[in-house]
Order: sequence, then structure tokens, then C-alpha cells
Amino acid sequence: MTHFQPITVSTTPFEGQKPGTSGLRKQTEVFRQEHYAENFIQSVFDTIKDRKGATLVIGGDGRFHNQTVAQTAIRMAVANGFGRVVVGRNAWLSTPAASHLIRKHDAIGGLILSASHNPGGPDGDFGIKFNIANGGPAPEAVTQAIHARSETIAQYRLIDSPELDLTQLGSHDLNETMIDVVDPVADYADLMESLFDFPAIAALLADGFTIRMDAMHAITGPYAMEILERRLGAPAGSVINAEPLPDFGGGHPDPNLVHAEQLHDTMMSADGPDFGAASDGDGDRNLILGKGIYVSPSDSLAVLAANAHLVPAFLRGIAGVARSMPTSRAADRVAERLGVEAYETPTGWKFFGTLLDAGKVSICGEESAGTGADHVREKDGLWAILFWLNVIAARREPVAQIMADHWQRYGRDYYARHDYEALDTKTAQALMGDLKEGLADLAGTRAGELTVERADSFSYNDPVDGSVSENQGLRLFFTDGSRAVLRLSGTGTQGATLRVYLERYEPPSGQLDRDVGEVLVPLADAVDELAGIKSRTGRDAPDVVT
Ligand code: G1P
Ligand code: ZN
Repeated sequence: MTHFQPITVSTTPFEGQKPGTSGLRKQTEVFRQEHYAENFIQSVFDTIKDRKGATLVIGGDGRFHNQTVAQTAIRMAVANGFGRVVVGRNAWLSTPAASHLIRKHDAIGGLILSASHNPGGPDGDFGIKFNIANGGPAPEAVTQAIHARSETIAQYRLIDSPELDLTQLGSHDLNETMIDVVDPVADYADLMESLFDFPAIAALLADGFTIRMDAMHAITGPYAMEILERRLGAPAGSVINAEPLPDFGGGHPDPNLVHAEQLHDTMMSADGPDFGAASDGDGDRNLILGKGIYVSPSDSLAVLAANAHLVPAFLRGIAGVARSMPTSRAADRVAERLGVEAYETPTGWKFFGTLLDAGKVSICGEESAGTGADHVREKDGLWAILFWLNVIAARREPVAQIMADHWQRYGRDYYARHDYEALDTKTAQALMGDLKEGLADLAGTRAGELTVERADSFSYNDPVDGSVSENQGLRLFFTDGSRAVLRLSGTGTQGATLRVYLERYEPPSGQLDRDVGEVLVPLADAVDELAGIKSRTGRDAPDVVT
């Protein structure tokens, strides 16, 4: 054992160390201020009462500043009395892999160093997420306690030690703490192999089914290489942009049609691969494409739930389905048909944790390209991709056929999300505030071609722990069955982002192959009329449509 001197550093609080939808996320330059990361990490540690001797998992998505903060977090974990730190080699861990390691090692929690799908680098963003012992994101009670602590913090503790070599696997005995540098991929890959029919997927690939997985120079690269190319035998080159880079190669690691445009274009071309997929900065999101078709995340959740019986992990069926409120209601239709419960939770993965722990749901998803299940307590990009491949291997049908078949059975929820980014915060808050104030009087109001049936502000009562979360988005229901949701993003780092979620249901007997944008024009117009988006923000159109 090597002993290093513990030191206590005096500090003063930083304003705004308040975890948002998914951890504390700020511009990298904010995180690089002296004491900034330390203050937050100590605030997290101070809320973990039983940390003495406990295990902590640390890893991140490889972005700029990941290494520095990982080294600091290790020094602080030793000085704060943790018994063991499990850290991924190179300080790498995808978010779902971190969730798995927390569970596997009975850790008390984990620090995930990532700003998810936000760009990285000195001019990009950085973040720290704290996950609790069940492997999932800290619930609101915990994040509130962390924030409260950060407002009064006066000192933090760390050991005076040189940098640890995190490039090599192995163990280091520092003071009372064992630091284990582990392979970031192996355990996760084994977990995936235990959930899906790898021989069937390998046979599909061997029969010439072609795939393209864009890892966007983010953390999923090493995982996808191991699983898709090495274990399942996809030809070399099936995984592109596989090397994690500190600035994601200058790209924006968000797997949507805007940022994964190249993949989209490839998939729409006549000689493109049969299946396309992408994941985000920290590996928890997924984009699914077939030849000539994009699968919306809301539809993907519904299709996976409907086909779960084809996958070894769910041979005995699923307990229930949960979706975040702005996610389309497509999954509810499947749950109803299966005779299982469908839950509607606020935005953010943290709200699925109690339902998963209580065994009430098996599969969950969000419209923001997040899908996952009870194997970990995070959304899981590669898991969703493997689930799709397993379904295709079992059905031996192209993605487009699977979608057409799904809509014929359940009808189609035409769906899109319009984002207005970097708005003036006051303007955005006033827009939401005024709309909220007028909600009660909206019923019966005519807007463009539509009429409001009812409107409310979504509030969630967790059926497991009884906690209540209010103000989770404004909902407008129209008499033709359309629905619109408006909420402000909780993950942005510049100004405010207004998200407008639009959906319109078409029954099986209706027109199922229309252009999504076209179908939603009347609804988008009605929402604009009711909320005054264009007139208040001065924007003609959304910045991103997904
Ligand atoms: C966004 C998504 C949300 C997701 C979160 C973290 O949060 O909308 O579904 O859970 O990122 O990936 P938002 O910025 O909307 O608060
Ligand atoms: Zn992410």
C-alpha cells in the first residue's frame, strides 16, 4: 500500500451547481475553473452517508477534460474513504456500461463524466452525472441534496498523489482504497450476449445482411467494435468513426437526422446497407434506420415492446412499458394489446428507476432516442441496436416491412419534435409562463384548423415511492386526437431551448405512409397560434426537427 497525504482545500460555493435532466452539465470552460469540479464532486460525496469502505465506479465518454476530472475524482475518493474505486481503462465507460458495473460490483454509486450528446472540447461542454446504487441516475431528492450542499460547501478533500496510469489494466492500493482499472467493454459485452440471440444475429450477418453503425467518434466505438465486428462477425468497416476522440472529431455526437446526416443519406441510397444505427457521446442513445426508412424513437419503443417475445431476455413476456410524457403514445397501444400496464413519466431517465426496481416495467423509452430495459438502469444505445438486430434475425424481414406491419396492426402516431435553441431565457420563460396561465381557459379554443379539447401542466405521482414532480411540461390535447407538448430543456448550457412535441394518430384504416412533416403542419400552426412562438422569439422555424 502506498500512503499519500490527505489534504483539505478551502473553497467557496459556485452558483448554479444544480444537476439538470441528466447531471451537472456546463460549458467546458466553466468546469475548468479552479475548484469547480472538486466542489461538485465533494458535494456528491457529502450526500453519500455510507461511503466509508464502499465501492465507487468512475468513467466517462472520452471527451476533453475526462482524464483530468477522473484523476481528481480518484484522489478525492481516496481522501473521502471509499474502499474501492472501479474505473474503466483510459477513464472510459459508456453510461450503460457504468450502470452495469455499479450493479455488478454492488457499488454505492458512480460518477459518469459526460455531457452526453453535447459537443466536446475546450469550446464544447462537459458534465458529471451521479448514479446511485441501483445503477440509475440520482433521483430528484438526491440531486436537490447535492445542489443544497454545493451552496454551502467550504472545503474538499483529496490526496496529494501523482497521476495514476489509467492506460493499463491493474490494481493500485492507495491509502485505504483499492483502485481497480478494468476493461470498460468486456463485462458489458458479456451482458449483451446474455440478453440476445447472438447466434441468430451472427447467422443473419453471415447471410449477407449488411449493417452500418456510426459511433460518431464517441464512446460506443470500442463497444460496437467488440460486439458487432468481433463477437457477431460483421465485416470490418461495419462500425465507422469507431475511435473515441476528445472533440468527437469536431462533430456533434447526437444521433439524430441532423447530426447523423451522412448515415441517413447512405441509408436512403439504393445501394445502402440493410440496417443503420448510431449512438451518442456517452452511448446511451440510439438512432435506428432501415434501407430507405427512419424509425422514430417513439415508434422504435413500440416495435421493440411488440416484438419482445422474439428476444431471449423477454421470452416470458414483459411486465409493463414506460415512456416519458412527450414520447408518442405508440407504446401504449402495444401495452394495451399485450395486456400490460403502460406508464407515463416526466422527461429524464431518472423517473424510470423506481418502476424498473419494483418490477412494474421491463422496457422504457423516450422520444429523444433513448430506449432501455431492466438489465441496467440507464437507457442503452447498443442494447436497442442489438434488440433490433435480434428481431430482424428472428423475422427475417427488412426494417421497412416491420414498420409497415406495425402500423397496419396498431395505427401510426405521426410524430416530430421541434427545437428552438439558444433562446433568450426570459423570453422563453415568459412564453411558457403565459401559456401556463391561460391553460384553464383553452378548452374549446379554435386555433387554425384545430380546436383545443383540454390542456394542462403535467405533474407526476410516482406510484412506487409516492414522490410528486410538478411542472413537467404543458400539454395541449385537440379534438381530432392530436397532442402537443411544450417544455424547456433541462440539459442545455446556453440560453433556453424550447421543445415542442407534436403528434397525430392515424388509425390502421387510415393513410399510413404520408410525409410526417406534412401531416403535422396544421398542428404546428395551431400551437404557434396558441403559444406565439414565432412572434415572441422572432424565429421563423425551429433549429432542429427530429
Ligand atoms: C434531453 C431529452 C431527454 C433526455 C435527456 C438526457 O433532456 O429531452 O429525454 O432524458 O436529454 O439525455 P432535455 O434537454 O429535454 O431536458
Ligand atoms: Zn447520452
